[in-house]
Amino acid sequence: MTTAQLIDGNALSKQLREDVAARTTALKARGITPGLAVVLVGENPASQVYVRNKVKACQDAGLHSVLEKFDVSMTEAELLARVDALNNDPTIHGILVQLPLPAHIDAHKVIEAISPAKDVDGFHVASAGALMVGRPGFWPCTPYGCMKMLESIGYSLRGKHAVVIGRSNIVGKPMALMLLQQNATVTICHSATPDLKAMTLQADVIVAAVGKRNVLTADMVKPGAVVLDVGMNRNDEGKLCGDVDFAGVSQVASHITPVPGGVGPMTITMLLVNTLEAAEREST
Ligand code: GUN
Repeated sequence: MTTAQLIDGNALSKQLREDVAARTTALKARGITPGLAVVLVGENPASQVYVRNKVKACQDAGLHSVLEKFDVSMTEAELLARVDALNNDPTIHGILVQLPLPAHIDAHKVIEAISPAKDVDGFHVASAGALMVGRPGFWPCTPYGCMKMLESIGYSLRGKHAVVIGRSNIVGKPMALMLLQQNATVTICHSATPDLKAMTLQADVIVAAVGKRNVLTADMVKPGAVVLDVGMNRNDEGKLCGDVDFAGVSQVASHITPVPGGVGPMTITMLLVNTLEAAEREST
C-alpha cells in the first residue's frame, strides 16, 4: 500500500498568481489595468465570503477590482441595466455575477446579458459553445483549475479513461469537455447512474463534483488512479471536507487533491487568469 502524492492547490495557486501579477505589471506599463467587477445580489452568507475572497485575490495580484453589492429586492431589469453598464465600462475587463441569484431573477437571462468578451466565469452560452467546439473563449474556472492541476504533475490524458461524477453546467459538463479535448475517453456519471463503482473502478482519472460527502471511497478506486476532489462540504464536526473519503482513497490513488487546499484556491486563481487574459486580448 502506498500513500498518494498530494496535488497542492495552494502551492500551485501561488505560482500561477505570481505569473498573473508579473503579466499584470507588464500590462499596466502599457497603460492598461485589468479590472474585474463582482456583482452580488442579496445576503447569501457563503456568497459573501466567496466574493470577498475574489476581490481580495485581485487586489493582491495588482488587478483593479470592484464589488457591487445590491439589496435582495433588486429587480431583474435593474440588474440587467447594471450588467449593460459594466459591458460598456472600459475599466472593466471581466464581469462576474455571483450565483445563486434571488428566485425572482432569471440567472440565465442575466448571464446571457454579459458580453462574452467579459465573461470570465465562462458561464455564457457563447463561452460554453466555444469550449464545446474548441474555439477560443473563457473556460469555467473550477474545471480549468483541475486541468492545471493535472498539467502540474505532467499527466498526459491521451488514451486515459476519465470519469467525472456530477453533470453541473459549472463543473461536470465543462470538465468532461476539457478532458475530451486532451484525448481522454470520458464518462460522465450522475445521480441516475445505476452502478457508480463499476464506472469509477475503470477510471485512470476521477473528478468528484457532486457536493456530497463520501461519494468516492477507497473500494471504488483503481490502484494508481488520479483523484481530483471538487466538493466543498462540512463533516459532522463542522470541518470543511470534499466529496472524497480522503483517508481511504489516499491509500489507493497515486495523486489526490486535499480539501481544503486543493481545487478551491485554483478556482479563484483561474478567475484571475481569465480576467488578465480578457484585458490582454482587448489590448492586442
Ligand atoms: N457560485 C458558486 N460558484 C460560483 C462561481 O464560480 N461563479 C459564480 N458567479 N457564482 C458561483
